[in-house]
Amino acid sequence: MSSTTPTATDGLTPSQLAAFHRDGYLVIPDALPPSTVSSLLAEVHRLLDTLDLSTHPMTRFLAGGDTGDGEHSGDDYFLTSGDKIRFFLEEDAFDAAGNLTKPAHRAVNKIGHYLHALSPPFAALLAASPTTNDGYVPDMRARPAAVARDLGFADPRCLQSMVICKQPEIGGAVPPHQDSTFLYTDPPSAVGFWYALEDATRENGCLSFLPGSHRWAGVEKRLVRRDPGGRGEGTVMVENDGARFPRGEGYGEELKGERPGEYVPAEVKAGSLVLIHGNLLHKSEKNLSQKTRIIYTFHIIEGAEGYKYDERNWLQPPAEGFTRLYN
Ligand code: FE2
Repeated sequence: MSSTTPTATDGLTPSQLAAFHRDGYLVIPDALPPSTVSSLLAEVHRLLDTLDLSTHPMTRFLAGGDTGDGEHSGDDYFLTSGDKIRFFLEEDAFDAAGNLTKPAHRAVNKIGHYLHALSPPFAALLAASPTTNDGYVPDMRARPAAVARDLGFADPRCLQSMVICKQPEIGGAVPPHQDSTFLYTDPPSAVGFWYALEDATRENGCLSFLPGSHRWAGVEKRLVRRDPGGRGEGTVMVENDGARFPRGEGYGEELKGERPGEYVPAEVKAGSLVLIHGNLLHKSEKNLSQKTRIIYTFHIIEGAEGYKYDERNWLQPPAEGFTRLYN
């Protein structure tokens, strides 16, 4: 993209916006052209090659555990990863005796949580316009800042990012959840940007969504630190005593009705962007295929006055604060 003039493809069209509000998610095919996808995949493989298991605490990301008691993911390596690039391993990459059964690069479940600041190719995806970055600038549609503006954000902040590898044969299932459980503001405001860097299919564990559930499914639970302000005490899932729905019209438990519907698998091609409302129920199945399912995702929250991000959240802001999308 050589033009510096914002175009319709910078943000969302009215029909895309309407679909997002109706369903709670939106698939945008071809948000990233193949050249950008290749660059990002090359960066994923470069990062995987830097993993040295001899100095790694062997922290596993137990996706199932995160919706349960949260014990497993609550160690210091996880809790202090908000301003670092760290590697979390697949639960099923270990045998019963606790030995790794896969080579390092095939054992990683996810890489997180500060790629959007520390990895130049991923950081460039947040650039507000094609000209704001002197270095690598990705060719892309639906620029995050323009999308956030169309979604009504006053001061969107990227608070975490991760690559999820969903490894062949062992890529873990993720049970139904809402992202605002893990990234809570009062009132809720999280929106996920989820980029397929490889085709995501039913075979390799694509996402499934419960359309419209963002309207009636309140954020009932939160993942919080046992010891807010401290370290190393792990995390725990607690009842949410704050607002359960975003501000605005059209939300409420009474909207659930008799038939909440069924999960819809979202098979998408590499380069697709999927926007996910923080209240939307979604899940993914285990990857039992021989293919990886590498994706990149980051989340934004509202940083404007009137939105509280408290010290109980498992993820605490880096010294410089959560990353602004608007310059
Ligand atoms: Fe999620």
